[in-house]
Amino acid sequence: MRLQKFLAMAQVASRRKSEELIFSGRVSVNGRTVTEAGTKVDSASDTVCVDGREVNICDERIYVMLHKPTGCVTTVNDQFGRKSVMDYIDIEERIYPVGRLDYDTSGLLLLTNDGELTYRLTHPKHNIDKTYIAIVDREPTEADIKRFSEGIMLDGRRTAPARIDIVDTDPVTIEITIHEGRNRQVRKMCEAIGCRVLRLKRTAVGELTLGGLKKGKYRHLTEREIAYLKEL
Ligand code: URA
Repeated sequence: MRLQKFLAMAQVASRRKSEELIFSGRVSVNGRTVTEAGTKVDSASDTVCVDGREVNICDERIYVMLHKPTGCVTTVNDQFGRKSVMDYIDIEERIYPVGRLDYDTSGLLLLTNDGELTYRLTHPKHNIDKTYIAIVDREPTEADIKRFSEGIMLDGRRTAPARIDIVDTDPVTIEITIHEGRNRQVRKMCEAIGCRVLRLKRTAVGELTLGGLKKGKYRHLTEREIAYLKEL
């Protein structure tokens, strides 16, 4: 089969992104760097590596929940060499974060090698609720909470309605539920109402919750949780 198809089937990336990987010299077949996307490989006998790591076609789908600590990035390879969420995962198959959390955000992060599910969960039209606990520098007023519920203009586009519940007043702790996954959305929405986020943690994605999972630890999702995500 063609090399880009092999890479896509090995869950490395989409076919188009796989072509880019090939063009940029990151893929080798039997130890030789290959830069032509049409190259044919035999999945039974050829050894294909991406960035020096062997990749294989695997049918097994893996679904994991990580309690991401702060101080690590959600990208697999960070250009500044910072710690990555992948450093907390001890699984041989390549899996990838579903969406992202900021370097300084902790909490629930899903990882999988199921590209289709990732696509569906991160696509804006699916709008899955995500719940965060934030410590902020002042208590939101009724008017602030109303603004959240009406959606807030960010970068020229109004967010979907979002919810604030005050959990505690010292320090001011609020629970925020949003429906999209725009870049730094919670922090920006809070900034827009004049609240600074001091700490941010994602506690739930849809009905999946962190529960008692310790920071830096991960667990495989249950069959029920996987079925739930697929039905969303
Ligand atoms: N919103 C943010 O501001 N940061 C995150 O990491 C996630 C949501």
